[in-house]
Amino acid sequence: MLPAQCDLSFSLQNVASRSNASHCHSSSLSSSRSTPRIRQHIVIQATKVLSLTTEQSKGSCLFWWLSAIKKDMPGVRGPSEYSQEPSRDPCLKVNAKEPFNAEPPRSALVSSYVTPVHLFYKRNHGPIPIVHHIENYSVAVTGLIDNPTKLSIKDIRSLPKYNVTATLQCAGNRRTAMSKVRNVRGVGWDVSAIGNAVWGGAKLADVLELLWIPKLTSSTVLGGRHVEFVSVDRCKEENGGPYKASIPLSQATNPDADVLLAYEMNGEILNRDHGFPLRVVVPGVIGARSVKWLDSINVLAEECQGFFMQKDYKMFPPSVNWDNINWSSRRPQMDFPVQSAICSLEDVQMVKPGKVSIKGYAVSGGGRGIERVDISMDGGKSWVEASRTQKPGKHYISEHSSSDKWAWVLFEATVDVSQSTEVIAKAVDSAANVQPENVESVWNLRGVLNTSWHRVLLRLGHSNL
Ligand code: MTE
Repeated sequence: MLPAQCDLSFSLQNVASRSNASHCHSSSLSSSRSTPRIRQHIVIQATKVLSLTTEQSKGSCLFWWLSAIKKDMPGVRGPSEYSQEPSRDPCLKVNAKEPFNAEPPRSALVSSYVTPVHLFYKRNHGPIPIVHHIENYSVAVTGLIDNPTKLSIKDIRSLPKYNVTATLQCAGNRRTAMSKVRNVRGVGWDVSAIGNAVWGGAKLADVLELLWIPKLTSSTVLGGRHVEFVSVDRCKEENGGPYKASIPLSQATNPDADVLLAYEMNGEILNRDHGFPLRVVVPGVIGARSVKWLDSINVLAEECQGFFMQKDYKMFPPSVNWDNINWSSRRPQMDFPVQSAICSLEDVQMVKPGKVSIKGYAVSGGGRGIERVDISMDGGKSWVEASRTQKPGKHYISEHSSSDKWAWVLFEATVDVSQSTEVIAKAVDSAANVQPENVESVWNLRGVLNTSWHRVLLRLGHSNL
């Protein structure tokens, strides 16, 4: 028997037998009507596969025939070269071609609260995977759980759908500015490795509950404490293996953490660049944990040991260099710190004397709201407060139920300019965390988390602003 089918009949058999005992756990189940329905669907699948298995043992070749087809038509595959990349918007500034890494012009970010998909930054570590047969696509859920199984996109779509507005930010956002202090390794990004989208999909907490892992669980009976997401793309950092990352089980099973298995972005089916057919979205956390092109979910005792958890996306002190680095001395970065950037002006901007509008974004990790955005025209001696908005026409209140807790705010202030000067923006989040004044104090060899005050230079002269 081919391993894939072995797997499937084994796992669904587990689910089928476990389903008989499901009433024992019903108190922890969601009240959603679709949960029992999808469980029933999985059990029916299990029964079908089991009866096929029985037929096969009697000599039927049907199962083998199905196996051959399934083997020849993978649901999703990670190519080893770049000949089948999707087409992209020519407005994007390409920071690396292969793998494709690009960001929009900064002015595009402040044109709308929700970033259009074609202008959303794209961050990849390998060629973009190809979906051959969506009907063959499934996500394996395995590891330290009682009921390993495979879920089709239909199974995931049968769960309640949530739309979560969340800002995704690469930990390397604003790396170029950090590299001006001292050399850093990594793709150079200006201020636009960030975007705000409405992600549509199933909550991971609901998916895990379907497999009898109750909400708000920090450890499974078998000792699972972390949830690993594995993709199909081939990354050189993983020696040609897939991208992977993990989050704690307590976060994965917390419905208020809004971790999604997303199949939509801004109301459209997720496109290839952003993870079609299914990606993880971990709101409030650096983008590196939001794994695209999801292939399997593994419940593990320890956090994922992959390159991007253990040998990257960690923040080291300024004293650490490539000769004395000890990767295991630091935790993988999860929540991102408070951040802001001016987007209506370039680093050096010509302006006419008079009123100048300063627009940008501010965001914090962990679901913390933005309490204030301050603008200075005199090197930080005095400050004026910018206005903050999310949804047009609605007053933004940090930490209020009416605001999108995982999303950025757009800010705006109008200042009077009579001479060439520097403009600074700094944000304060709802826990009173403030952006650091100088990039030197947060410099690190990988160039991550440059959240220092954002500064642009205004020069008097001819301007088309
Ligand atoms: N998932 C896979 N499979 N492969 C990747 O290279 N990059 C990660 C994350 N998920 C990555 C991935 C990083 S570092 C970021 S910042 C986000 O995806 C970027 O998501 P986007 O390209 O949709 O903007």
